[in-house]
Amino acid sequence: MNSELICINPGCRARYSITDVIYNCPQCDGLLEAEFTAPQATPVELKKAWRERRMCNRPIDQSGVWRYREMLPFDGQEAHIVTLREGNTPLLPASRAAEYAGLDGITFKHQGFNPTGSFKDNGMTCGVTQAVRLGMSRVACVSTGNTSASMAAYAAAAGLKPLIFIPNGNISYGKLAQALEYGARTFQVDANFDQILALVRVLAERLGIYLLNSINPFRIEGQKTIMIEMLDQRDWVVPDWVVLPGGNLGNISAFGKGLRELHDGGFIDRLPRVAVVQAEGAAPFYDFMQEGGEFRAVHHPETLATAIKIGDPVSWPKAQAEILATKGVVERVSEQEIADAKAIIGQCGIGCEPASAATLAGLRKLRASGVVAKNADVVAVLTGNVLKDPDYIYRYHTGTLDAPGGVRLKSTFGNAPVVVPNDEDEIARLIG
Ligand code: F0G
Repeated sequence: MNSELICINPGCRARYSITDVIYNCPQCDGLLEAEFTAPQATPVELKKAWRERRMCNRPIDQSGVWRYREMLPFDGQEAHIVTLREGNTPLLPASRAAEYAGLDGITFKHQGFNPTGSFKDNGMTCGVTQAVRLGMSRVACVSTGNTSASMAAYAAAAGLKPLIFIPNGNISYGKLAQALEYGARTFQVDANFDQILALVRVLAERLGIYLLNSINPFRIEGQKTIMIEMLDQRDWVVPDWVVLPGGNLGNISAFGKGLRELHDGGFIDRLPRVAVVQAEGAAPFYDFMQEGGEFRAVHHPETLATAIKIGDPVSWPKAQAEILATKGVVERVSEQEIADAKAIIGQCGIGCEPASAATLAGLRKLRASGVVAKNADVVAVLTGNVLKDPDYIYRYHTGTLDAPGGVRLKSTFGNAPVVVPNDEDEIARLIG
């Protein structure tokens, strides 16, 4: 079977060529997913080959995405691959964080170690490679910051023109600065993420620009390798839980797909449960999974974790299917809980951006309510680097961080810098 695009809607399942430039099913408007050509080799042979590639100097073997290319829908496309050696992100045990959550142990898979500092690079290497395969010259995305930083870098590396659209005043300077530095044409739009996505979809169609939001099935393919790499690093020992933050819900869609494919292919003997954590002010998926019924968007999403400030996530049907397939759960956490959990992750010497800390905050709640057992084997995915949003960090530690609505957050684990005179005795006294 050759690689194809397939509509995920069970009543439709229409199939399309892997080179059709479509993001939704032209027949029923359902979301699309890519299917890869079933590998000839056995799981045992592939696991061995993937491990050996870590020792190779070929760029596509060094990439923590393309190393697993037998699981990707890019057969025969090696000449088109655009890689910045993404992936290869570490698994970091964190006892202080585990103690905070009430768990015996936690391991963070830190996607902030990627070339542009977020998990988006895992998906973007595939998205931009597909743009090259299709002969596109311009690529576009709307973003809360990380997608645009990543797309700008990969497009620049590939010699394509990146066009990015961001909510005016609502992304961190670290992320905006990356897009500018990588040469993206940057439009700051006076609208929120969801409104801009609708706009960009129309513009992309009208101007023949390739859209690289996570609705793009090739982004999802790349991001699913985060789960493959995690299991490879654990010698294929499946954790009890995988925890991640949820915004537009592309990543949960990717993780679920990757895990199911590994299970169906005989690489793992069971599925971990997956927990998605949303910020309280931007938690439409949490509400939907609690209450059922129609999916209802949050029209004015609010959170200081701007990466996940999304009220109308496009991938919710995929996310719902993956939560059900993995017997997963969805949790939500407050601004204070995110801020404090983030400081704890910092105290582990690890650090992350605010959205990523929703994982630890969520785990603490899931432990307290008994959903996650004390001795559970937990992998939490930190999605972005600590330096993505330094303004937030400075404000938290100096007690000047205000939640949306103006309530000042407590600097529970604050560590404010001390202003001192240029005086040896005085400084010695302070150090003690
Ligand atoms: N964590 C970080 C650091 C993110 O940047 C995002 C999404 C998420 C979590 C949520 O992932 O959307 O797949 O559920 N950022 C997007 C962006 C929306 O534009 O950079 P998701």
